[in-house]
Formats: sequence, structure tokens, C-alpha cells
Amino acid sequence: MVLQQSPDNSTIAGVSLDVTGAYRTFDGNVKAVEDVSFSVPPGQFLSLLGPSGCGKSTLLRLIAGLDHLTAGSIQVAGRPSADLPKRSGIAFVFQDAHLLPWRNVLRNVELPLELLGIGRPQRRELARQAIEEVGLSDAITRYPLQLSGGMRMRVSLARALVTRPRLLLLDEPFAALDEMTRHRLDEQLLGLWQNSGMTVVFVTHSILEAAFLSQRAIVFSRRPARVIADIPINLGRDRAAELRTDPRLLHVMQEIQHALRAGGGEEGDEHA
Ligand SMILES: Nc1ncnc2c1ncn2[C@@H]1O[C@H](COP(=O)(O)OP(=O)(O)OP(=O)(O)O)[C@@H](O)[C@H]1O
Ligand SMILES: [Mg+2]
Repeated sequence: MVLQQSPDNSTIAGVSLDVTGAYRTFDGNVKAVEDVSFSVPPGQFLSLLGPSGCGKSTLLRLIAGLDHLTAGSIQVAGRPSADLPKRSGIAFVFQDAHLLPWRNVLRNVELPLELLGIGRPQRRELARQAIEEVGLSDAITRYPLQLSGGMRMRVSLARALVTRPRLLLLDEPFAALDEMTRHRLDEQLLGLWQNSGMTVVFVTHSILEAAFLSQRAIVFSRRPARVIADIPINLGRDRAAELRTDPRLLHVMQEIQHALRAGGGEEGDEHA
């Protein structure tokens, strides 16, 4: 496992994540998450799947400490995620790139470092590095409106990676992109994960994407989200585009599909 350098140059790697008996009920009694438990070892790439509206984004927000649990606990590196300080090493990538239109690529990627109070020379250097990692060095001075949807998501990914997160949370990051672009970004994400020690939790509706990318897939039921299946994906760390047509991958996809059906969702999922 290749270790990463954090902005303050200490060596870091992925962290563990422990979700224990997690519940989230919203006002008006909307149960979104019900008795969910799972543990993720440091450095694992985990995908979460489940029917639309079942509670996946809610769970991801709880893990990030952006929302509070109704009951249970979520620990990141053995500490409650809600109590983690600002420099907690968790980064979040949303479905929309959420870029600031008045800032160019470099200055969008610099933003999290600015919020951490890191000085300009170091900030610039780290941002340039992250932009290079997502293959966008040529577009560094462009503004979001001058970028394609795929490029905007790569900026969003660079902005998440620039803090060298130990836990990367992604909520359907490539869902709005065409299939070829999504495949390219999946491969890029895989490379970034392979070259780092970070733990990744990836929410997707695409069974192919989950099987191709992850070492493990957890399938949730219809709302409220409960764990229906926890599927190990033993296809190694080094994966290439050809894996998408490998019978072993198709077998994993069938297993996920089966669990989704058992949970009462995603029948005939267009992304499947
Ligand atoms: N802040 C909130 N207040 C009230 N209800 C909420 C809130 N956030 C989410 N919900 C409800 O919780 C349920 C789960 O929503 P969530 O966004 O977690 O689903 P999801 O699995 O991410 O769906 P999708 O696959 O469509 O993105 C939904 O019924 C939603 O309306
Ligand atoms: Mg969602």
C-alpha cells in the first residue's frame, strides 16, 4: 500500500469506518436508516447500492458528520464521526460538481486548502498536483462554464483529493455523465485509489460500476435502508477495462442484482 502525504507532510493512509446499529428518522417520522451495521477496514473500496430513496445519501451524510444519528454510532478511525475536527481527513464528492463559477479550475481546487488556512505557495503546489492526478493540467486556468460535464466532475474529484483524504465518500458522482465518460472516470478513480491508501465509500445505482470498482458491495432494502446483502468482490486490486466483460465480473453483477431484487428495488434498473 502506497502511503500518502497530508498537507502538513505527515504520512497517512486510509482509516477504518464502523457503523453500529445506525438509525436516522426525520421529523414527521420518515425512517431513512434502520439498524444498519457494517465495518470497513482501512483502505477498502466499498460500494453501497439500493433502491432510489432508500436512505443511501442519508447514510453517507451521517458518515461525513453532516447529519446526526437518531440512534447508534458511526466511528471513523475509532472516533465518532460527528465529533471529528475540521481536519478530519474525510472528503465528499456529490452528484453535482458544485464548483464556484467565478473561480477557475486551480482556484476551485485550492478552496479546501484555503479553508484549512494553508498558505498560498503550498496551496498552489498541492492543487496543481491534484489537478494533474485527474488529468486536467491543460485546463487549469479555465472556468467551470468552459468545461464539459466530465471535466467538471474531475475538478470536483481533484478538489476532494487535494486534502489527501483518508476516507473518500462519493454519492453517485458520475451518474449524470454518458456511459463512455463514466467508464473513463471510473478507471481514473480506480487508479487514484490504487495509488493511495484511502478508504472509499461509493454510492451508485450502476451494478456494473459497483462490481468493476469495488472490493465489496453492500445492498440496502427499500426505505428504511437495512442491509440486505454484504457481497465480497474478489477480483484483485489491479483492474483494467477488459474486466467489464469478464465472466467473473458478470457473476458478481448477478449476485448484486439478486440482492437488489430481494430488497424490493431496482427491478429493471436502467443502469444495470
Ligand atoms: N433532511 C431531510 N428531511 C426529511 N426527510 C429527508 C431528509 N433527507 C432525506 N429525507 C428522506 O429520507 C429518505 C431517504 O433519502 P435519501 O436521499 O437518503 O435516499 P437515497 O437512497 O440517496 O435515494 P437516491 O438513490 O434517489 O439518491 C427519503 O424518503 C427522503 O425524502
Ligand atoms: Mg441519494
